[in-house]
Amino acid sequence: MIRIAIIIGSTRPGRKGETVAKWVYEIAQKRSDAEFEVVDIKDYNLPLLDEPISPIMGKYTHQHTNDWSAKIASFDAYVFVTPEYNHATSGALKNAIDFLYHEWVNKAAGFVGYGGTAGVRAVENLRLVMGELQVADVKAQVGLSLFTDFENFSVFKPAPQHEKAVTSMLDQLIAWGGALKTLREKQA
Ligand SMILES: Cc1cc2nc3c(=O)[nH]c(=O)nc-3n(C[C@H](O)[C@H](O)[C@H](O)COP(=O)(O)O)c2cc1C
Repeated sequence: MIRIAIIIGSTRPGRKGETVAKWVYEIAQKRSDAEFEVVDIKDYNLPLLDEPISPIMGKYTHQHTNDWSAKIASFDAYVFVTPEYNHATSGALKNAIDFLYHEWVNKAAGFVGYGGTAGVRAVENLRLVMGELQVADVKAQVGLSLFTDFENFSVFKPAPQHEKAVTSMLDQLIAWGGALKTLREKQA
């Protein structure tokens, strides 16, 4: 069975990302074809990238990088739960992605975006980044609007159709995550 990380892409106090990630996790728990874990980049206390050697070399000098590397390497696929900040993903998530390289390669990714325009530009931004990391990003995605899925722009009350969108995204993610796991095993 493949292992999937649901990555909380924001770190700011009062962030909505944690609630959104937990909602995705609860929907994911209804299925038995993959294992899921919420991963909070905040827990890894990553500074702005401070490794002297490019991550593609895999020679890390800091404990925080080794801890982050071990966690990300342990998964076959990722759900990035991303806010939209200035038409892109968060600096914190981009920084956390940039810390590593081979840990991401030949894995799969799905996206849950949220924001004033449902995080669509943040997800498009992440899809570009995934290409360079050789991560296969699935088409089905989830977009949550601050206007219609958060009461008074604060309390998370997702419209009912979003659960189906999460399921479609996970269906594709599990299929691709499984196929790429087979590929990695053949290459090993
Ligand atoms: C620095 C910053 C920039 C933002 N830029 C955008 C934006 O370009 N487009 C948008 O739709 N929402 C934007 N928003 C609204 C956020 O998507 C929204 O506040 C969201 O809840 C942020 O995620 P978080 O609460 O998990 O940090 C921005 C918010 C912040 C804090």
